[in-house]
Amino acid sequence: MTKTTEELLDIDRRYFMHPSTHAHDHETGALPGRIITGAQGIRIRDHRNETFIDGFAGLYCVNIGYGRTEVAEALYEQAKRLAYYHTYVGHTTDAIAELSARIIDWAPAGMKKVYYGLSGSDANETQVKIVWYYNNILGRPHKKKLISRRGGYHGSSIAAGSLTGLPSFHAHFDLPLDRMKHTTRPHWYREAPDGMDEAAFSAYCAEQLEALILAEGPDTVAAFIGEPVLGTGGIVPPPAGYWDAIQAVLAQYDILLIADEVVCGFGRLGTQMGSQKYGIQPDLITIAKGLTSAYAPLSGVIVGERVWNVIAEGSRKEGAMGHGWTYSGHPLCAAAAIANLNILEAERIPANAAAVGAYLNQRLHAEFDRHPMVGEVRGAGMLAALEFMADGQARTPFDPALKVGAKVAAACMSRHLIARAMPGYDVLGFAPPLVTTREDVDEIVRITREAVDAVADEVL
Ligand SMILES: Cc1ncc(COP(=O)(O)O)c(C=O)c1O
Repeated sequence: MTKTTEELLDIDRRYFMHPSTHAHDHETGALPGRIITGAQGIRIRDHRNETFIDGFAGLYCVNIGYGRTEVAEALYEQAKRLAYYHTYVGHTTDAIAELSARIIDWAPAGMKKVYYGLSGSDANETQVKIVWYYNNILGRPHKKKLISRRGGYHGSSIAAGSLTGLPSFHAHFDLPLDRMKHTTRPHWYREAPDGMDEAAFSAYCAEQLEALILAEGPDTVAAFIGEPVLGTGGIVPPPAGYWDAIQAVLAQYDILLIADEVVCGFGRLGTQMGSQKYGIQPDLITIAKGLTSAYAPLSGVIVGERVWNVIAEGSRKEGAMGHGWTYSGHPLCAAAAIANLNILEAERIPANAAAVGAYLNQRLHAEFDRHPMVGEVRGAGMLAALEFMADGQARTPFDPALKVGAKVAAACMSRHLIARAMPGYDVLGFAPPLVTTREDVDEIVRITREAVDAVADEVL
């Protein structure tokens, strides 16, 4: 017998421990549950049969939009033919071999191999282990520290959560690990000392990074990890010249560069990967989300030539690397990824992200640059954000107790638009599916304007 909505919500409250959820409020029902029942294109439907524009593509992952039957069929065909075999000791499947070559085509020059996991967090755990292994094989056992940025997001497992630069991911978990250090948040609007322009701020970020490396000892610093555009830390594109300045410092001290492309990869910034947009030449790349558009869980580490050569040398000296999971290179996920890449390529979806993303940013600027509650409008590709300020000119934030960002997100939701209140500051984030049209953008911006005005009436 099928269960009623109320019965399902009750079972959920009793038995399901949700991620990133207020446990008490969920269990008591103070946090209302919501069942998502279906989705098509950029819209999702809930148990009340209401439709919402998903202005955040799930968790910025459904790049091709919802409901693409080609991916469902690829999953079905693969499951019928071969649902699983492992990839240890050189075993493979046609799907994972083909996918690996396709990913290298999407990646910037100099990339050699792909290792697979299931989530962005586990891929970054692999990154840390590869970096440590690399330096052990090179006979540099002290070169083990990793540097990330305050405001960076790299996952919530032990090592990846340590790399994440958001305090709520460390508190009560005894994180970060000692080997993980954090440098300046590349957020010009918030962090630049008075009067400093973007280029000068980028030079300042590079100086701060160098000072940290020197303080820790260059012989102890192994790698730097960063998202091309800071994502969960507020959707912040890098200030002008940032990546060039950072890469110069890393080269000087023989420090590996890991580009975390979990959000920026696979068309989100209008280029194939974020690295190509900003001239980033990474040694290692983390991928997930848009690789399958979340039709199946799949992540990866793309290994560049410099690191691969040492891994190959390591196996000659030490035997097979002791790292791998039951589901590394799962054929179902690979089939979903290939179908997803086929759609991204055939429909030139990254180009749509570039064009419609530019339109989204332009419309947000037109609507909000002079709005009394908005301090900054920013974005890149199909990513955009509004940062709310009590006084935008003076950069005076609202009292956090007012929860302005969360209030605007709720006001959008009540008008059937999902936009995300980003953690930490009063920032509303947009990362719609890459198939969003100009007409969709007009609707997103119209609803957002109504929502921001409603909250402004309350808090200003
Ligand atoms: C840049 C970045 N890296 C890593 C992760 C972690 O991915 P996952 O949630 O799949 O573990 C995320 C998740 O949002 C992310 O945005």
